[in-house]
Amino acid sequence: MVTLPETAVYAESLRKSFRGVHAVADVSFAIPTGTVCGMLGANGAGKTTTVRMLATLIRPDGGRAEIFGRDVVSQATAIRSLISLTGQYASLDEDLTAIENLELFGRLRGLNGRGARTRAGELVDRFGLAAAADRPITGFSGGMRRRIDLAASLITPPALLFLDEPTTGLDPTTRAQVWACVRDLVDEGTTVLLTTQYLDEADQLADSLVVVDAGRVIAEGTVDVLKDRVGARSLEVSVADPTRLDDAVAIVRARLGTEVVPSPEAARLSATLTDPGLSARIVTDLEAAGVVVAELAVRRPTLDEVFFAMTRQEPA
Ligand SMILES: Nc1ncnc2c1ncn2[C@@H]1O[C@H](COP(=O)(O)OP(=O)(O)OP(=O)(O)O)[C@@H](O)[C@H]1O
Ligand SMILES: [Mg+2]
Repeated sequence: MVTLPETAVYAESLRKSFRGVHAVADVSFAIPTGTVCGMLGANGAGKTTTVRMLATLIRPDGGRAEIFGRDVVSQATAIRSLISLTGQYASLDEDLTAIENLELFGRLRGLNGRGARTRAGELVDRFGLAAAADRPITGFSGGMRRRIDLAASLITPPALLFLDEPTTGLDPTTRAQVWACVRDLVDEGTTVLLTTQYLDEADQLADSLVVVDAGRVIAEGTVDVLKDRVGARSLEVSVADPTRLDDAVAIVRARLGTEVVPSPEAARLSATLTDPGLSARIVTDLEAAGVVVAELAVRRPTLDEVFFAMTRQEPA
């Protein structure tokens, strides 16, 4: 592979409207070559529209973007040979078999007949679809379609792969298979921009995150930085004797001065902890009151909590 610039994606103030709807109002971010960027956002946040602009499928109304240093508007053709896109909705020929679909994509990508056949065979094996390879797509489940669709975008390994919600609607096993494929690709040097509504998916795969809301980037950074930005940690305490939970709640509330949420079925309570040093005091307080602690944990916010904290902020 030719040496690529250090920045795979650079977007500055991208905008796109559809008949007065500001699908993308102001999106700026960058992805270093060789990394995975997760773009998180609720339905209608502008993820697909951003990806389509970066993949040269639609023109931005304003702002600019470069893929490996090439402009998405004036150098679209050069960009197309470096990228691949797995769309949110699969684009397969229903009447053709899995192998035939992949061969077709291979030919479209410039492979000769034999090359396309060989590559199609390799990919059905890799995606666990060898047994179904000669069946028409019509009878495929959603998960099988997704895998064929992903395989199609890997016919010739791209330098940059756009994955638009690659695992929406997949069962956990198939999701894990897709994740493994993405990790393999990254190991081979592909840069990935992945959109997702699943926070755990971003947590699993992404080096950096861009959170979009109503067409704007509301947060950007590594997973760790975003978790830190939300700041507070959670304290979770399980008591050995469930009948003492109310006492424990009162003790923790008195020490922290914040809301404490009991989960009686689990004999557990949780609370926001702004000063981690207080957890030791709480243990002492509980011991003094004769409440036996079965388990105590201080944990960082989950990506879900980060996301909700960020999207609660009203855009300026
Ligand atoms: N071709 C179009 N014509 C009109 N409106 C559009 C078009 N494409 C997108 N939109 C609107 O732009 C906004 C952003 O859409 P987009 O598809 O980019 O969101 P998304 O983040 O991908 O959402 P989802 O998670 O549902 O896929 C939405 O309000 C959508 O209705
Ligand atoms: Mg979308």
